[in-house]
Amino acid sequence: MNLKKVTIIGPGALGILFAAGIWQKFKGLCLLHHDENKAMGLEAHGIEVVKAKNGGKMVAFPKVTASSRDLGTQDVVLVLVKTYQTTTVIDSLKDLCGKKTAVITLQNGIGSADILETVVPRSNLILGVTMHGANRVEENTVVHAGKGQTFLGMVDSDAEPLETAVEFAKLLNRCGFETNFVKDIYPIIWKKLLVNVGINALTALTMLRNGQILKYSNLTKIQEMAVREAYNVMQKKGIDVGLDLKGVYDLVRKVSMDTAENISSMLQDRLKKTRTEIDFINGAIVRIGRELGIETPVNETLYALVDFWGYGHWEQAEPR
Ligand code: PAF
Repeated sequence: MNLKKVTIIGPGALGILFAAGIWQKFKGLCLLHHDENKAMGLEAHGIEVVKAKNGGKMVAFPKVTASSRDLGTQDVVLVLVKTYQTTTVIDSLKDLCGKKTAVITLQNGIGSADILETVVPRSNLILGVTMHGANRVEENTVVHAGKGQTFLGMVDSDAEPLETAVEFAKLLNRCGFETNFVKDIYPIIWKKLLVNVGINALTALTMLRNGQILKYSNLTKIQEMAVREAYNVMQKKGIDVGLDLKGVYDLVRKVSMDTAENISSMLQDRLKKTRTEIDFINGAIVRIGRELGIETPVNETLYALVDFWGYGHWEQAEPR
């Protein structure tokens, strides 16, 4: 089948990166923005993608709109809003989805699928993970900080892959976003979650770039303690990422080194003074740990600190 209509919801760093990349090969791409004026600006000026590696630039001009009502039924809807904004896309999904529409989420952390499932049948819901590093430096400019793989899988691991989703994976590959459709997406989701548990809150609280954490042994210790708790929770859930605990520490350290110069997404949120995804990362470990009877004091501490600071208290200079 040929895809005719694809909409990306969410004009953040990854949203505009994917919109620009896909538009190069597929002009039926539309980006749904929450703000009408910004949508008009983005459509008029285009999206600029700057490659961090060599400074190379390209500009793309996809359709950008704030109204989902006129777009009609889509073949694919890619949800890329911040995880805590998932409830805000419910109405748009009602406008955009038909019987065969694949709804794909590449959002961070764990929890958005439960929200999407309230309007999208499980047979149409695809979970994904992307390792691309993106940093939005202006309203319409994104720095592509690092290429990585993207993985997609049905929310029900036993379900047949939806045709539209498989076509979309092919389209992503044609656009230079290396993508694999896998039978069981959950180990990949948890692998990324373990990495985010180890890096995001610590970098946001300390204002360090990812690689800097490794230079402070006390911080590396906290990183390992948080990751160990998450690993225990994951094991109790019966998810096997194919690594023992040491292997997971090595993975987190490797990602910290590979992305040493990155400002983690949570630190980016702190710098922008916006809400973070802590609820769906360390907060998810605390929540699932409680359900399974596993103590997670380090994640609870990281969660409490980021949660407090993340609600507009980031830059308080004076004691209150
Ligand atoms: O959230 C992030 O920033 C990224 O997932 C990662 C891998 C930690 C790199 O910065």
